[in-house]
Amino acid sequence: MTQMPINMDHHWLPFTNNRLFHKEPQMFARAEGVRYWTPEGREILDGSSGLFTCAAGHGRKEIAEAVYKQLQVLDYSPHFQRAAPISFELAEALSGILPEGLDRIFFGSSGSEAVDSAIKICLAYHKAKGEPQRTRFVSRAWAYHGVNLGGTSLAGMVNNRRDFSGVTCDVVHMRHTWNEDQRFTRGQPQDGAWIAEDLEEICKTYGGETIAAVFVEPIAGSIGTIVPPVGYLQKLREIADKYGILLVFDEVITGFGRTGSAFAAQEFGVTPDVMTMAKAITNGAIPMSAVAVKTEIQKAVIDSITADRPELMHGYTYSAHPVACAAALATLGIYKTEGLFERAASLSSTFLDGVFSLRNLPHVHDLRGHGMMSGIQLTPGETPGAKGSLVQRKLFDEGLHVKATGDALIFAPALTTSEEDLSMMIDVLQKVLGKAEL
Ligand SMILES: Cc1ncc(COP(=O)(O)O)c(C=O)c1O
Repeated sequence: MTQMPINMDHHWLPFTNNRLFHKEPQMFARAEGVRYWTPEGREILDGSSGLFTCAAGHGRKEIAEAVYKQLQVLDYSPHFQRAAPISFELAEALSGILPEGLDRIFFGSSGSEAVDSAIKICLAYHKAKGEPQRTRFVSRAWAYHGVNLGGTSLAGMVNNRRDFSGVTCDVVHMRHTWNEDQRFTRGQPQDGAWIAEDLEEICKTYGGETIAAVFVEPIAGSIGTIVPPVGYLQKLREIADKYGILLVFDEVITGFGRTGSAFAAQEFGVTPDVMTMAKAITNGAIPMSAVAVKTEIQKAVIDSITADRPELMHGYTYSAHPVACAAALATLGIYKTEGLFERAASLSSTFLDGVFSLRNLPHVHDLRGHGMMSGIQLTPGETPGAKGSLVQRKLFDEGLHVKATGDALIFAPALTTSEEDLSMMIDVLQKVLGKAEL
């Protein structure tokens, strides 16, 4: 392929070492199935479903066709005091796969928007119920809830917070659930449910009646796949109920089959009051996110306002964009007809066998995984994060794309990945992580 030189001066890349990127750009120009191709035509296997977005693999014609058709019929429709039928169709379809009772859906365009919308919905709910003093939130160390101001406040990763102090809201953090003794645990650790008692302690210290909601990723994704100990989420549910606190599951990564069930809530048998989702909702093809809330939460907010005004003073120009709705409906159709949530559950054991075959390699400090998501924690180098970045680049050179956060790789291929492609991905990981000198 002949290449036009690209002027890279003007695009400021997000979450990227821009100086390094300009020296050694790593780009994708095309994608199909579980493969990307660089502008030079080199093939790169996709070990992270894009960014946990493309659960059904890339280049899905069904989605492209639905989007093209929708653009011709209704390219845009405002959603303030107006609506388009397709968004109701999508909300109904989503409520059919969500845990029972979570059946009122608010739409946005990104996971970060979903998180900030969820924060506002929790505040509006408590105000409607006559408890406006519930303005504090609880999150967890190592949490990632997007990058808008609410999500930044909830963030438990120090680098995502430290440059932005002064703009965050009142959040108290629980401990994360990982410890050294759990290293190389496949699935849920047996011990650790007791760590949920941090929520009880926070309620005692700050007053449970001041807390609006507790936000958790059921499996902490971005930090490198930390699977909840058996009973931990159940315990959080109990304590939240005891103090009248809403439990929010951020399922932006874990949603849509990643765990082997439609949502982690069903996988772990715990129903939150509010759930955020994004990414695989449209297979990553068009930006979209959603917040699902229990029926009574929406009812309380709506019933609390009698004047002729919007009950929730919140929304986005692109909330429920009709083209995104079309992409999401086509995506849900693929998940259903191809049985991809079930496929994730049945492929998980082969997938985790592959992941755990990396155990004795020189750069592997810990392995974690559940369903079709895993974390490969690298032995720490001199500067935190430097090894993760180096390994990520080496993997790309060897033909595998994997997301890295700090010194953890998050390996989570598409739910459509064949066993053969899976084993090719593991081969690349073995090759790179097996070299004593990186
Ligand atoms: C759990 C969680 N919440 C929120 C977000 C933010 O989503 P977005 O990048 O679409 O804003 C992410 C992104 O990875 C996430 O993993």
